[in-house]
Parts: sequence; structure tokens; C-alpha cells
Amino acid sequence: MSVIEQAAELIRSARYLTAFTGAGVSAESGIPTFRDKGGIWEKFSPEDVGTPQGLMANLMRNPQIVIDMIESLITTTELAEPNPGHMALASLERTGLLKVVITQNVDNLHQEAGNEKVIEVHGNLMRLRCLSCGRKTQLSKSEFLKFAKEFKEELKEKLSGGIQAVLEILPKCLECHGFQRPDVVLFTEPVQDLDRAFKEAEMSDVMIVAGTSGVVYPAAYVPNVAKRAGAKIMEINPTGCYFEGITDIWIDNAFAKTMPQIIELVLS
Ligand code: OAD
Repeated sequence: MSVIEQAAELIRSARYLTAFTGAGVSAESGIPTFRDKGGIWEKFSPEDVGTPQGLMANLMRNPQIVIDMIESLITTTELAEPNPGHMALASLERTGLLKVVITQNVDNLHQEAGNEKVIEVHGNLMRLRCLSCGRKTQLSKSEFLKFAKEFKEELKEKLSGGIQAVLEILPKCLECHGFQRPDVVLFTEPVQDLDRAFKEAEMSDVMIVAGTSGVVYPAAYVPNVAKRAGAKIMEINPTGCYFEGITDIWIDNAFAKTMPQIIELVLS
């Protein structure tokens, strides 16, 4: 039996199938991963733009770095569409087989593909969160792009204006007029919905783990929690088996290519 047939068999036999995804599932949608060659952390350093302290310091002293990052986010977001792998996971949810997607991605592509049950442990780039009252505002892709482009232009105009200038251009909450920020998790910040993610992992008897290097914790515990609860782990990653020791089936191929092949067999 081929590895694809084994994977389809495993999914067909599942009572509680879940998926845990990372940047690699969006690679074929044109979004660079973080740690591969040419990845995001090669272009920008996590210290500069990946922590709240780094971001704030650069907004004050070196806003060009932040402007470059926003530009890069705009370009990739404009082009990114769900790929056949995202679509395959959405069709698995529609059949009732896939119970939930737990993702580290902030790109909203699982939802765009049609998945309704998505736990985003690192937040969502297209959502704003009020720093005062906590209210969350989900933006559509076009609303996000409009906001990001305007913010970038205003930031350029106020390059040397310091903290006061930056505060002036931050978006304000419609409810309490507090400052809003993108609802993404930066390094040193707590992850979101981890309890729910662990609960889903504990209920899993099969988990698809796709497109993640598994190096960022606590998110990377999710497959381990599933394994400890007795789940079989199926890993899709073309560059290596990153959950060696707990992975039962490793598919060393690209997500957008293999996931549709597996689903075709499952649904045939
Ligand atoms: P990484 O960039 O660390 O890992 C992406 C993985 O996807 C690598 O192991 C690649 O081999 C694999 N990959 C590449 N192309 C693929 C494809 N076509 N199909 C399947 N797999 C492919 O990204 P994550 O593991 O998601 O967090 O990173 C985890 C967290 O680190 C992110 O959520 C982000 C980052 O710093 C924060 O910013 C808090």
C-alpha cells in the first residue's frame, strides 16, 4: 500500500479527526514560511518585528523596518488565495470527518477555503484587538488591505514624529475609542485558545500535522497531547519528519499536492 493509501485508510477509520497546521500549508499560496530558505525570518529579524518590544522600539527609532514589513505583508496578502490543500481540508470538514483545524497561521486561508471550525493559536492578521476593552473586530481581506495601505502611507508621512505621531495614526476602537492593534501573537506574548486546542487534541484519534517545523512552543505541544491521548499522527512535510518519535505516517511531499490526492481516495 502506498503512503497516500495508508493515509486515506487512516482518515477513513477516524472517529475524531483533527488537523494541526503551520506556515508550510500556505507556501503554495505564495506566502513564505518562517524558517525555510528565503523565509520571513531571513528577511526580517524576529527581534525587530516579532516581539512587541522590538516593534515599538522600531516604530520610534527606525520605522522604515516596519514600513518594509507592512509592504511585504500587503504584497503577499494581495496575491494569496487558498490552495488545493486548504480546499481539501474544507471538504473534509463538510463531510463531517474533520472536526477542527488548529492552526499557527494568521493568514485566514483555512476560513477562506471554507473551514468553519478553526482554532488560531497565534491569532489572525485580519483582526484588530482593542488594547483597552479587548473588543475584537474581524476585517475582510479588502478592509485589511485598505487599512494596511493607509497605515503604511501615514507612517511614511510621520517618519520622524515619535510616539505622539504613531499614536495619532493607530486605529481606534468603535466601542471605547481605545487603541487597536492587529490580533496576532508576537514572541513573548501568550498564545490564544490553547485550552481549546489541547482539549481537541485530547479528543483526537487521528491528527493530520502539516507544514510545521514544530519548534515554537507551546503550540508545538498540540500533536504531542494528541499522541499521549492515543491518536495516530500523520505528518505532511517535504523537508523532513519534524515530529519523529510520534509520527505514524510521514508523507514527504507538498501539502497542496498530496492533501487533495488523499481526500480523493477517502471520498471515493
Ligand atoms: P516554519 O517556517 O518554522 O516551518 C514551516 C514548515 O513547513 C517547514 O518544516 C517546511 O519544511 C514545511 N513546508 C514548506 N513547504 C511546504 C509545503 N509545500 N507543504 C508542506 N510543508 C511545507 O513555520 P511554522 O512551523 O508554522 O509564530 O512556525 C511556527 C511559528 O513560528 C509561526 O506561527 C510563527 C513563527 O515564528 C509566531 O510568530 C509567534
